[in-house]
Amino acid sequence: MKPPPGIHNFPLACARLLRPKSGGQSARALDLGCAVGRSSFELARFVSTVVGIDFSRSFIRAANQLQKKGMIKFRLREEGNATRPVVARVPPKIDRARVSFRKGDALHLPKNLGSFDLVLAANLIDRLPDPRKFLSKLLPDLVSPRGHLLLTSPYTWTSEYTPKSKWFQDSFATLKKLLRPHFRLIHRQHLPFMLREHRRKFQYTLADATLWQKI
Ligand SMILES: C[S@@+](CC[C@H](N)C(=O)[O-])C[C@H]1O[C@@H](n2cnc3c(N)ncnc32)[C@H](O)[C@@H]1O
Repeated sequence: MKPPPGIHNFPLACARLLRPKSGGQSARALDLGCAVGRSSFELARFVSTVVGIDFSRSFIRAANQLQKKGMIKFRLREEGNATRPVVARVPPKIDRARVSFRKGDALHLPKNLGSFDLVLAANLIDRLPDPRKFLSKLLPDLVSPRGHLLLTSPYTWTSEYTPKSKWFQDSFATLKKLLRPHFRLIHRQHLPFMLREHRRKFQYTLADATLWQKI
């Protein structure tokens, strides 16, 4: 059973927002909080180097299998304990050699990572213990001069990930305040996504997508 109509492919939508900003095939892109790499592979349609980084060892293992073999088998929950086998495949037109994955923490990235023409941080900031530090101190160095940054977030602040003292109150206003010294806002829109719990249960969420250019 397919998800309800009207919901676009979220990772693809993120890559499409960045595509006109790539500045050519030789660009480098970083997908922070890449999960199993769906957006990373989409970015590889139009840039030659994509680095995907995620905190989760199991996500990076799955992303690496997709990179090497182009497919992964897993079981999809139908209801209760019932599952069915499915196969996820990287679209064959995507050059998987352009993409590499590594386990890492967005708050403690290796110093030698360099900077990127495109940086995607999709639905990451409300999973971080210190989003303010990430936005104001770490992100600016990751984006090359005139490069672009796409942030998406539903701003679902929870103490599971972020101590209450670090939650933003008006998240968009806080983003503007923290990023303004280094970036200018060039686009903003709603970006819906759907999380599937089981065959008949989906969670609809509206992320705030903001596209920034490094000054
Ligand atoms: C809500 S998911 C978003 C996944 C994907 N970007 C998307 O939009 O579909 C958040 C991802 O961030 C990863 N993550 C959480 N904390 C992180 C950190 N400190 N550094 C890097 N990745 C992190 C999680 O493992 C998870 O894959």
